[in-house]
Amino acid sequence: MEPSSGATVTTVKGYACQRRTPLQHHNTLLTDALLVLAENAEFCENEGRSVAFRRAGSVLKALPQAVRKMEDLQGLPCLGGHSQRVIKEILEDGKSREVEMMLQSKQYQAMKALTSIFGVGVKTAERWFREGLQRHTDVVNSGYKLNHTQQAGVQYYDDLNTPVTKAEADAIGQIVEEAVQAVLPGAEITLTGGFRRDKLTGHDVDFLITHPEEGKEEGLMPKVVSWLEARGLLLYQKTNTNSYLESTDGPARPSHNMDRFERCFSIFRLERPHARPEQHPQATCEEQPQDDDSARERRASQSPGWKAVRVDLVVTPVSQFAFALLGWTGSQLFERDLRRWAGQEKHMSLSSHALYDSKQNRYLRASSEEEIFAHLGLEFIPPAERNA
Ligand code: CTP
Ligand code: MN
Ligand code: MN
Ligand code: MN
Repeated sequence: MEPSSGATVTTVKGYACQRRTPLQHHNTLLTDALLVLAENAEFCENEGRSVAFRRAGSVLKALPQAVRKMEDLQGLPCLGGHSQRVIKEILEDGKSREVEMMLQSKQYQAMKALTSIFGVGVKTAERWFREGLQRHTDVVNSGYKLNHTQQAGVQYYDDLNTPVTKAEADAIGQIVEEAVQAVLPGAEITLTGGFRRDKLTGHDVDFLITHPEEGKEEGLMPKVVSWLEARGLLLYQKTNTNSYLESTDGPARPSHNMDRFERCFSIFRLERPHARPEQHPQATCEEQPQDDDSARERRASQSPGWKAVRVDLVVTPVSQFAFALLGWTGSQLFERDLRRWAGQEKHMSLSSHALYDSKQNRYLRASSEEEIFAHLGLEFIPPAERNA
């Protein structure tokens, strides 16, 4: 298509794993709006629609400049009619009516609040909303029976919804390192997830654990968890043992995207570095003396000397490490498109364990991410540019 005069034409590839997507980009007004539509579609359990809006936003993140007029979108992939309408509205009026209304809607707000409780998915949130619950405090007051995970989610709600900083991630890393060295000297930990993509904050901290000698890592997770628990460092943990070996469907046919490593979803109790000592009532003579509700509330919300932080730990045999590293670094859309590229363009099947070539009927080995990209016929994209 010939661009009309003045249009900035940029070529953007159709799969996120073919593009470089930095953390900072030039179209946040547009991508924030598309993200709201994607979330809303997710709340309506329409995954296809949600992914479509995410893809549209992701393409805009990869552009080298801000979109100023509709012609700038010429030739760009993944921009459906709905996304284009919303972009047009924002370019013309500075905002989208549809998105503004969604942000105001009770349902969107409730779904957002309820799904931000650790352990609460869209289905549960939907049911609770229909039963009249709107925020996490409503859940506490409802007297509903919560599972172990949701109890932790409600109990540590404020901390878990406060972004984890890089400094906190590093502090957690030191604890994990100490735990791992104590139970298996020579084992190695690697920070993955958003922090490996150079994000400054995250909703959790993700680590891979391996040992250079294959097999040495077996049974490591329960030992690490025990070490942490014995020191009172875990507020919550749910450990899954490795089911990869016992499973009948190998990596050639991953039935779902969840990998099957030894893994632990946990909540750490992280000491705050410069926690102020609890204030004495006498010390605050300016304050009203009576012990009213608001005073009690203030004290209750005063941060204790520690913070609850979500941490994901995954143990991998060293032979699968590169696949696990690629699979856990994200972003989620980047991972989704890597697997889609492998299947649709290369007749291969990629998981966090292995890469299977259906044409050659064999697994392709790799000991680095670079080798996996090469097997897939893709240019290597460094982690910091996988923020699709
Ligand atoms: N992942 C996975 N299986 C899960 C959960 C996550 O393979 N059950 C992968 C995701 O594909 C993602 C990576 O692990 O690429 C990290 O997931 P997550 O921690 O949810 O997201 P981050 O990108 O780290 O972003 P955040 O900062 O919000 O944690
Ligand atoms: Mn993460
Ligand atoms: Mn996340
Ligand atoms: Mn995670």
